Amino acid sequence: MTWRDFFDGDYSIYVNARHKLLHADLIAKGLAAHIPRPDVRILDYGCGEALSARVLSERCARLYLYDSAPSVRAKLASSNIENPKIVVLDESTLDALPDGSLDMIAVVSVLQYVGDAELARLLEIFREKLVDGGLLVLADVVSRDLGPLDDARELLGFAWRGGFLFAALVGLARMALSDYRSLREKFGFSTYDEPDLRALLAEHDFSCARAPQNIGHNQKRMTFLAARLQAD
Ligand SMILES: C[S@@+](CC[C@H](N)C(=O)[O-])C[C@H]1O[C@@H](n2cnc3c(N)ncnc32)[C@H](O)[C@@H]1O
Repeated sequence: MTWRDFFDGDYSIYVNARHKLLHADLIAKGLAAHIPRPDVRILDYGCGEALSARVLSERCARLYLYDSAPSVRAKLASSNIENPKIVVLDESTLDALPDGSLDMIAVVSVLQYVGDAELARLLEIFREKLVDGGLLVLADVVSRDLGPLDDARELLGFAWRGGFLFAALVGLARMALSDYRSLREKFGFSTYDEPDLRALLAEHDFSCARAPQNIGHNQKRMTFLAARLQAD
């Protein structure tokens, strides 16, 4: 099994429906705060089920959704079928987007599942698809000094505030026994140092600023706002 199979399968990283909804709401609000103008075209890359896509779509001209898991894309397509502003992409339609056709790309809670070579390839694609000055938001990035225990503690805080503490305790116990834990060990879970990520973004012609607040419930994770620099 790979990460792709994991996300394509019947697994969930959410402990219950309330967790999933509160998470989607938090991500949509966090991303909306970075949308520069209402006429922008946004790609949410690795969007998951994107339950708050409608809310985000009201803040922009067009919202493209892409996820590498085919079953997730099928759910996205059926749940957004009536919204003309939302377009669900697959690999080939993503590839076919013209260069310079996006103003903003959001990548939230995805980099941990991406290896070094794939990240370099993705940054090249993002640079091509963004307009000059376009914004790349890398959010919920896991820093090297953050362990699973920190993640568990932050989840419990979120669950306490959101009224799903018992489900979170059960979910954490289940996760400790599940494939997710062994996959983390087997397929890797990428973590980043701020200076390394800044250097990588600079190599791919992006400026980079660390946002004061992470998008997501875990303020120990990081959000970076990178702007596509004009090619020489
Ligand atoms: C933790 S979920 C995050 C979903 C959403 N961005 C959010 O924050 O709610 C990770 C998502 O990234 C997708 N994913 C993982 N690796 C990916 C990759 N290399 N390219 C695109 N999507 C990927 C998974 O299928 C999954 O839906």
